[in-house]
Amino acid sequence: MITNTELEYKGNLYPNHIVDFKQDTNKLYFTTENGVVLEITVLRGSLIRFRYATNYVFEPDFSYAIDPEANLGYSKLEVIENDTEYIIETARVHVLVDKKSLRTQISDLEGHIINEDEIGFHWEENYEYGGNTVKMSKITQTGESFYGMGDKATHSNLKGKRVENWVTDQYAYGKDQDPLYKAIPFYTGLHKGKAYGIFFDNSFKTHFDFAHERRNTTSFWADGGDLNYYFFYGPEMSKVVSAYSNLTGTPELPPMWALGYHQSKWSYYPESNVKEIAKGFRDQNIPCDAIYLDIDYMDGFRCFTWDKKLFSDPKRMIKELEADGFKTVVMIDPGIKIDREYWIYREALEKGYFCRRGDGPLMTGKVWPGECNFPDFTDPDVREWWAELYKEFMSDLGVHAVWNDMNEPAVMEVPSKTAPLDTRHNYDGHPCTHRKAHNVYGMQMVRATYEGVKKYVYPNRPFVITRAAYAGTQRYSSTWTGDNVATWEHLWIANVQMQRMCMSGYSFVGSDIGGFAEQPNGELFARWVQLGIFHPFCRVHSSGDHGDQEPWSFGTEITDIVRKFIEIRYQLLPYLYTMFYKYSKEQRPMLQSLVLFDQEDVQTHFRTDEFIFGEQILVCPVQEPNAQGRRMYIPRGKWYDFWTDEVSEGGKERWVKADLDSIPIFIKEGAIIPKYPVQQYVGELEIKELILDTYFKLGTESSEVYEDAQDGYDYKKGRYSLRNFKLTGKEKSLTVQQFKSGTFVTEYETLKFNLHGLPFQIDKIEVDNEEVDLKSVKPNGSHSLFIDKNFTVLHITGK
Ligand code: NOJ
Repeated sequence: MITNTELEYKGNLYPNHIVDFKQDTNKLYFTTENGVVLEITVLRGSLIRFRYATNYVFEPDFSYAIDPEANLGYSKLEVIENDTEYIIETARVHVLVDKKSLRTQISDLEGHIINEDEIGFHWEENYEYGGNTVKMSKITQTGESFYGMGDKATHSNLKGKRVENWVTDQYAYGKDQDPLYKAIPFYTGLHKGKAYGIFFDNSFKTHFDFAHERRNTTSFWADGGDLNYYFFYGPEMSKVVSAYSNLTGTPELPPMWALGYHQSKWSYYPESNVKEIAKGFRDQNIPCDAIYLDIDYMDGFRCFTWDKKLFSDPKRMIKELEADGFKTVVMIDPGIKIDREYWIYREALEKGYFCRRGDGPLMTGKVWPGECNFPDFTDPDVREWWAELYKEFMSDLGVHAVWNDMNEPAVMEVPSKTAPLDTRHNYDGHPCTHRKAHNVYGMQMVRATYEGVKKYVYPNRPFVITRAAYAGTQRYSSTWTGDNVATWEHLWIANVQMQRMCMSGYSFVGSDIGGFAEQPNGELFARWVQLGIFHPFCRVHSSGDHGDQEPWSFGTEITDIVRKFIEIRYQLLPYLYTMFYKYSKEQRPMLQSLVLFDQEDVQTHFRTDEFIFGEQILVCPVQEPNAQGRRMYIPRGKWYDFWTDEVSEGGKERWVKADLDSIPIFIKEGAIIPKYPVQQYVGELEIKELILDTYFKLGTESSEVYEDAQDGYDYKKGRYSLRNFKLTGKEKSLTVQQFKSGTFVTEYETLKFNLHGLPFQIDKIEVDNEEVDLKSVKPNGSHSLFIDKNFTVLHITGK
């Protein structure tokens, strides 16, 4: 432990003894003799906010991250004082505040220490910028592991690492390179089977050290602002992640087509090329729902314009693509070309919407169009203006969705790659410099985009993509992991990044499948698609200055493999849509790293490759060339091989065969996996029956299927259909009960049960207590049953 004298020597200041305590409902204020105030707010029994002021004064309490609709409320709050400390008791945790040092310690109700200050809060006066560098250090507990922190391209367990949050345009980044495009200062700690989370809500550059500099210390600090963090207690990791997701929000349901396969390149142009690509998908029978127009569709890279030589009639083109089942997604960047002939530039200039430097001139930076000025998206008036700019694109031209890129903001030809730090921002009425606004700039841009798109695609649902993000951006937009590279290492990175993002509350995420920079070979491309179809956002994108990267660009063998896997994604659409529903409504991450799935099994704490897609499908990508299979860890429980139905007992490693046309996929026993037939795009076919792949289990398991109109807002009025299936397997019987809610009437009448792993010969089948004539059961394959969608109990008895 560092002594106070050493601390002072290093220029740090730290609180001394408490001289005053006050309570204002759920807010507790502890003031020290040297002017430090600790504000503790009890938000839920297991969610406590800690905020520190120096010189008695807090910064204005304002956050872009917190969801105004977060569900908060506590039942118990008692404060006990003794000679040495204050003890705050909630229904879930006890917080000790030491009277001599203001250090805190949090334990569960059984007295297990969950998290405790080492030095605790300390700070350094920052003479260059004014304000403080604010710091917190905690004791690293024995065997503690750390997870989360957004898009870090490093091992999923962060123990021993130091990372930084400063959203950065990091072209062709490498493994362990940091920082990248997102700033999500949230981590989960896990020790002795108990998990907690810390969200350091501070938009300045933040730093986290997970027992890297000092083995027993975990610390985080920021280059300004308040030391302001939220503590979440689990003890389940899944509860920590969902509590964080509740606090910072989850998105509304996207249109279902947004969960289909998407094709992008920098850039498809002119119109004939776009059409040719679209036709390629239909000719090849490879499902695809969206095609992307990168910057070259614009007139000289001016946002909200079209190059009429390349796209003479965008409205017609978009309509024709739509008739063929394709949605058109267009890119919009933040930099506005300095051009007095360009009405958007003139308007923003006249209205004073561009960011200015400290001394007053406009902030200027070079991007694709050349010299640009940059709207200050942290100003609510600017956001409103920006949202309105989408009217023509969405309402008149019929553009379906928008892709915001370069919104860190990326600036070319300067070492910082971004705006100068003295750039001024409104920050919703809390004027500041870029040091504070940088990490939220892209978030506020995509927030404005989301508002505009949402308004002008109505009655359809909006779909938006962003590259830069701060915590909470998930409420507005999906995201991708930026400019990766076509290498095997990047396939590993993509796998880890997606799991990490999901653990950081940001589930609607994908990578540039196949790699953005450089050219993948067919094998790498196929392996990447096999992973990418299990990512919530599934898009192939590439820089386009190498070879082609369409599914048919690598010869027929690869085309067939890629088709097969994209078809699996389309079959799984009802499962994926249900995953999204659970994410949106119940804050459940769409992908689970094994540690999130089973934290009690220590084997999972350092695993990176395997993950759970939703709650019942285990996936493990192949991440090396020339593989015919791989070793992998199967988590505890019994799992059916997706391809062969062979059952594996988990809790151990094994070798799984996976030739180029397959990867290890396993289904949790007892699961009922809903499927649609393969469609070339969402909504192509009338769904005649819902397929339910039903995996026998001795015991019980619940599964859900959420459906609605796949777009629009009727579901908010109760017009959805939620089926909950409870499966109970015994030695000689299988029972499935259905519990339904919602008023949406699905177009199909029939459920087709495909029974897997039934350990007996069927003797009798009863549906709602009526025996079904076995001959009238239309078997399709060996064990398929067609049953009315409104059944309540299916009971199968064996011989
Ligand atoms: C950078 C983005 O990350 C990439 O996806 C895009 O293709 C280029 N900008 C060009 O717009």
